[in-house]
Amino acid sequence: MSTEFFIVFEGPDGSGKSTQAELLFNTLKNDGYSCIITEEPGGTHEGKRLRDILLNPEWEICSKTELFLFLADRSEHVSRVIQPALKEGKIVICSRYFYSTLVYQGIARKIAGLKFLTKINLFAVNNILPDVVFYLDVLPEQGLTKAMDTSSRTFSFHGGDRIEREGSSFQQQVREGYLKLASQYSNIFVVLKHGSIQEISSTVYNVTKRRLEHD
Ligand code: TYD
Repeated sequence: MSTEFFIVFEGPDGSGKSTQAELLFNTLKNDGYSCIITEEPGGTHEGKRLRDILLNPEWEICSKTELFLFLADRSEHVSRVIQPALKEGKIVICSRYFYSTLVYQGIARKIAGLKFLTKINLFAVNNILPDVVFYLDVLPEQGLTKAMDTSSRTFSFHGGDRIEREGSSFQQQVREGYLKLASQYSNIFVVLKHGSIQEISSTVYNVTKRRLEHD
């Protein structure tokens, strides 16, 4: 089935975005939809290089460089992966998008104001906005423990990646930032961490189906 539709998963580190994105991808594929699954940072071959500079604790970069590298990665990702897939009538499921920059670089790191960050982000993404954003909530300590475990197992960043090393008070600001954004953006659907992985996944699926059928 051909349906141009853009879904984003957002949330603090270790909130289960990749798991939920994958479950939704598999269910929609079984329903006969043509979809792709992707992520930021590092959704392109070139972006994987940028991801390493952004997350590998061996690199030391200043905060403005961090901001511009996330934007560079996103710009490449939108132009080369997201926009072409949407044009082909596919559903795009993406883990993280520009809301991450508003929250991590804007609200938590305070590199620049949200108005300015929104403007440069829209420029970077050719004004492509998601149809629905699922914000997956998690308590900072809980999420950080899980994320640091994944970082050491998958990427060999023992002690966490460059952003996780900011610690749990940073993650607390990230969580509060997301909840603030969710109260301002009508396309953000908040999923509280009450249920099991399966229960959360069926809430996500039901909301997606309703939005898909409305379009
Ligand atoms: P990743 O390993 O993809 O972790 P997660 O499973 O938590 O998404 O790490 C991405 C990290 O980069 C994460 O700490 C959030 C951060 N980030 C930003 O600070 N700004 C951004 O714009 C994006 C996309 C990610």
